[in-house]
Amino acid sequence: MERRKKIGILTGGGDCPGLNAAIRACAKTAMQRGYHVIGIRNGWKGFLDNEIKILDGNNTSGIIDRGGTILGTSRVSPFHVENGPQQVLDGFEKLGLEALVVLGGEGTLSCTSRLYQMGLPVVGIPKTIDNDVRETDYTIGFQTAVQIATEALDRLRSTAESHHRVMLLEVMGRRAGWIATYAGMANGADAILIPEIPLTEERVEELCQMLKERNRRGTTFSVIVVAEGTELEGKMRRKRGSSLAKQEETYPLGGIGNILGEIIERGTGLETRVSSLGYVQRGGTPVAYDRSLATAFGVKAIDLIQEKRFGEMTALKGNRITSVPLEKVAGGIKTVNLHVYQIASIFFG
Ligand code: F6P
Repeated sequence: MERRKKIGILTGGGDCPGLNAAIRACAKTAMQRGYHVIGIRNGWKGFLDNEIKILDGNNTSGIIDRGGTILGTSRVSPFHVENGPQQVLDGFEKLGLEALVVLGGEGTLSCTSRLYQMGLPVVGIPKTIDNDVRETDYTIGFQTAVQIATEALDRLRSTAESHHRVMLLEVMGRRAGWIATYAGMANGADAILIPEIPLTEERVEELCQMLKERNRRGTTFSVIVVAEGTELEGKMRRKRGSSLAKQEETYPLGGIGNILGEIIERGTGLETRVSSLGYVQRGGTPVAYDRSLATAFGVKAIDLIQEKRFGEMTALKGNRITSVPLEKVAGGIKTVNLHVYQIASIFFG
């Protein structure tokens, strides 16, 4: 008997603004083309717990501007659960699905690539505020995080100027510095610190000298943005500890701002205050760009399913919506294009 045309959608890993816009685009496009659409709840966990949400015209309307994901998400990987991958494959069959759309970051998409190799007919959509997914210029959620971080830096600039202080903002980004680079450039930050350029003792000394020089010439305030994954070298190195990244020997994410703030205040004698943007940059309504990117990726995902081009991920290359093999995405992250960083650095100091 011909399998009923049904597709599944799941959102895995960290949430981000624009996920619901992508869910809406996938579901509405699929329904227009004769599919029934089943939401898998809470990422891969939904297959393990058999938790689903039937998507229809009603519950996928009016969500393009809503933050988060109506399906829920989790960081559960089936490869870290006994017999997990087989439970996903069995759950897929039990639901009578023809194909699955997975919205994820580097971790979820690496998982997706392995499940594709095991026979799961799946396509991926890149989403994360970190923008660290390879083979696509941007990921859903990134531009919104940049907008939020830029607005925060703008606000810090005014209070820094009023109190003659150094203001330091720690932003997310995991092991890449995309949010810090773009928000710092948009704000005109006086320094941008990212994991791609390790912080040696010499660089910290140069930073302190720059800040003192600004002060000497009468610019009595500064704004610095630091990505959470930035590492200190030498004697300043932070203690190792568990982290979000898979490799336990890496350094903990988060906290660099406070450590650096103390070093700067001690090294310059300038009053320094630290703010950490945290989950604020991951919540709330997506900016227009992310809504449009999510919509284009959602339609492309359904095109790929109809063309039976499984094992691919939607991607943005320049202004083109295209697709790339998931195997080229899996197992690594996209770090900051240092040419962009060089442009921002012209305006440091
Ligand atoms: O991957 C998105 C992200 O927000 C990272 O920037 C951040 O380091 C991480 O998720 C936080 O993870 P969690 O939500 O599990 O604390």
